[in-house]
Amino acid sequence: MHKDFFVVANWKMNKNSAETKAYLHELSGLLARCSFRVLKSKRVVLCVPFTSLSVLVECKELPYLSELCVGAQNCHFSGSGAFTGEISANMLVSSGVDYVILGHSERRILFGETDEFISRKVSACLNCGLKVILCVGEDSSERKSGKTADVIKRQIDSVLVQLEENRISDLIVAYEPVWAIGAGISASLAEVNEVAGFIDNILKSYCTLSSKSVPKVIYGGSVSKRNVKDIAHLSGIDGVLVGRASLNCREFVDILSAI
Ligand code: PGA
Repeated sequence: MHKDFFVVANWKMNKNSAETKAYLHELSGLLARCSFRVLKSKRVVLCVPFTSLSVLVECKELPYLSELCVGAQNCHFSGSGAFTGEISANMLVSSGVDYVILGHSERRILFGETDEFISRKVSACLNCGLKVILCVGEDSSERKSGKTADVIKRQIDSVLVQLEENRISDLIVAYEPVWAIGAGISASLAEVNEVAGFIDNILKSYCTLSSKSVPKVIYGGSVSKRNVKDIAHLSGIDGVLVGRASLNCREFVDILSAI
């Protein structure tokens, strides 16, 4: 297994504070029963709803949870101001957040977020010291009409042209084909590998300073305990983003144990 393999849980709009606390106590108990191997060489990021962030930060005191990274699922690009209902990067940092998911297809499709809007969010978050998990991916009609590469290049270019090179290493790019999210069937290994390689080439073209600054590429879309091992072994994949299967604590631990 690679060093620092990412396992990112995206809880989406699930679990209130009490349910978050119960999950984290269960996680601590389950990890105590597994060997330490389960967490070794992995960076586990839990991206929870805003209302669960403080519970997650507190529960890091529990046995085996101290190395969990705290993640959010959205952020506004302004530092402060008249943006009712929004949260700034500084608010996330001061709440103990390390990572934030931006550009998820649910935000692009359901909330009309454009490439330009997402790009401004990414810059604001990186400038504030957050690490950003940028989601990109084609929908099924784009794939069928052979536009996968164009769509992904557009989504990545729109963000990277705005960034200074020394900020790029704090970016992680999640390839999430829209048609595989919540579908129960992930993209095939060949499909994942092909697009991951394509993404890596785009990223490398922006990283002239050092190969160490090239962002990691992870995969999301119906990752489960059944397919995670094979996905994790793909050479171009540095992690997984897990939605539905991360909501059940036992299943999440099974995923951690499988890789
Ligand atoms: P899924 O979701 O694992 O339920 O497919 C992944 C995601 O939307 O990030």
